[in-house]
Amino acid sequence: MADVPSLISLCIDTLKEELVRGDDVLPAIPELPFDLIDILITRLPPLALTKLQNHLPYDDQDMQVFSHDRVGDKRKRGRDWNLDVAWRMLFKLRWPNLVDQIQTTDWQQVYWETHLQNCLDVAAERALIPSFNGYIGDIQIPDTILKHVGFDGHTSYSFHDHSKLSYHCLQFGCHARCLRLQNVLCTAEISDLLRECKLRSLVLGWIRSKEQIDGLCKLLAQHSKTLTSLEFFYCSVSSDFVKAICDSVVIKGVQRHGIEHLSINSSSSVDSWTATLPSELVSFLSSGRSLCSLKLSNNDLRRNFAQSLFMTLLNLSSGISVLDLSENHIAGWLSDFNQRTSRVSHLSLGIGKSLQLLRVLNLRGNFLKKDDLEGLRHALAHMPNLENLDISDNFFKDEGIRNLIPYFVEASETCSPLADLKLENCELSCDGVYLLLDALSTFKGPLKSLSIAENFLGSEIAATLGKFLDTSIQVLNIGGIGLGPSGFRVLQDQIKGELKLVKINISKNRGGIETAKFLSRLLSHAPQLTEVNAAFNLMPIESLTVICSALKVAKGNLEHLDLTGHVWDYTPTHASLRAEFLHNGKPILILPSSPTFGAPYDDDP
Ligand SMILES: *[C@@H]1O[C@H](CO)[C@@H](O)[C@H](O)[C@H]1NC(C)=O
Ligand SMILES: *[C@@H]1O[C@H](CO)[C@@H](O)[C@H](O)[C@H]1NC(C)=O
Repeated sequence: MADVPSLISLCIDTLKEELVRGDDVLPAIPELPFDLIDILITRLPPLALTKLQNHLPYDDQDMQVFSHDRVGDKRKRGRDWNLDVAWRMLFKLRWPNLVDQIQTTDWQQVYWETHLQNCLDVAAERALIPSFNGYIGDIQIPDTILKHVGFDGHTSYSFHDHSKLSYHCLQFGCHARCLRLQNVLCTAEISDLLRECKLRSLVLGWIRSKEQIDGLCKLLAQHSKTLTSLEFFYCSVSSDFVKAICDSVVIKGVQRHGIEHLSINSSSSVDSWTATLPSELVSFLSSGRSLCSLKLSNNDLRRNFAQSLFMTLLNLSSGISVLDLSENHIAGWLSDFNQRTSRVSHLSLGIGKSLQLLRVLNLRGNFLKKDDLEGLRHALAHMPNLENLDISDNFFKDEGIRNLIPYFVEASETCSPLADLKLENCELSCDGVYLLLDALSTFKGPLKSLSIAENFLGSEIAATLGKFLDTSIQVLNIGGIGLGPSGFRVLQDQIKGELKLVKINISKNRGGIETAKFLSRLLSHAPQLTEVNAAFNLMPIESLTVICSALKVAKGNLEHLDLTGHVWDYTPTHASLRAEFLHNGKPILILPSSPTFGAPYDDDP
């Protein structure tokens, strides 16, 4: 039997069309019965919903609704409209893959912000075409996007130019707080187009020319009061660039800026701004009390830059909590740190001035050598609250780590909060790591996570490592350290009591069947274990039986067990094993050439 449309749904459809087309019915909306408004809310396209929302009779203070009754006196009705649910539905319909990644209490704001970002991305694509020479604001938004919003192409709207970028910027800009802009959009026009936005965060890519910098700076100045986060990547940065950016974020009248996060990543330097710390950056650092994260990764920064940056931060009693100088060339930056600080300490570095609030320090990939680690040890004494230190991908070898070990000894005496330490790929040997683990084992601090992956340590490290497993360590990466079968055998014998491990990475250790035996012992002794990476271990197919019988007995929390990188012929047993061991409905085992999640099992070759 065909559905006969009810009177209600006919009314709703008519209202919907009217709302999309124009504003004539808006004044009548508050007079409608609530039930009808409720249904209307769930049926409207974004454009009409926003209009309706602006005309719903709210009391902003307590989100309650007022209405005029027939005699005209104001009546308070204690109820909310289900607007947020409707906006979330609309969002999900248009961006099904994004919806779960977003946490918000204001889906209307996120909807329009994402819409505007879509429009800007489309415009950037058009403007990138070399023959383009019009106004950015005149770029046409494609019908597919317009349809999502509620323009259906046949109706004539009371708005003009609704298919131009400028319309969308001005109409929906007030909802946009975080935007990504490519170089081609940073023209003289852009500040005018985005004038309605309340920008807090900007991500900017490929800014290269003077014209783009000028366009961008106008935009920054316009939003200096609200901006808190600026991120640049793949830009060509010069001293002028740095100066212009630093100047334009200063809030007029108060002579300081409100930036909390500044990051310049993977950018090339046009002149020597990376050789010494530009004075504009010094004043930027000293004129904002709010700055808490500074990331300057992969910009070819030089030693003198890092040296003066560090001294400046130290001297300012800076409030920075995250400092990332990874992937640069700053080796030598701290080589005479100790002498320098003792020389200046009585003169200009006052007592108590330090990087008190620094929690995260990333110095990955900087060609640091053993002397740098000596300097680092002294520098770390000025960071009493450091929790997270990454010095991976530096080749300081055992001599380097020896220079740092006194820090761990001191840290354990001063109750340092260091919780996460990464020393991947530092050309360490068994001797160096032995000393390190020894120092860390007595460390009374809350060290939870350690990575010593990709250092060739060999099986000799296993006994020390086995003892270390017995500490409060929760996350351990020992991938690619050359344990081999004998290493795993020793490790296995060392496990006696209950371990606190939550995640472990033992991949690329060529352990063969011994890897499986180790795993089986681990599973029965680490009740909190959730994630294991045992990929690339030359395990024979029999290992699977060993591991699965251990899985059956262990009543653990295991969510992922990665066994990829093994040459096992795929058999139907694999599918049934995947189906047998589940955590929250998802397979625990990740097997070589496993079908991807959700795909039918028999799809696999
Ligand atoms: C520390 O800051 C003061 C001004 O606040 C300045 O005179 C001095 O030169 C600075 N010292 C260093 C080592 O940067
Ligand atoms: C595990 O360690 C290996 C070797 O260092 C590395 O390639 C891999 O990315 C790590 N995996 C995880 C999930 O940490």
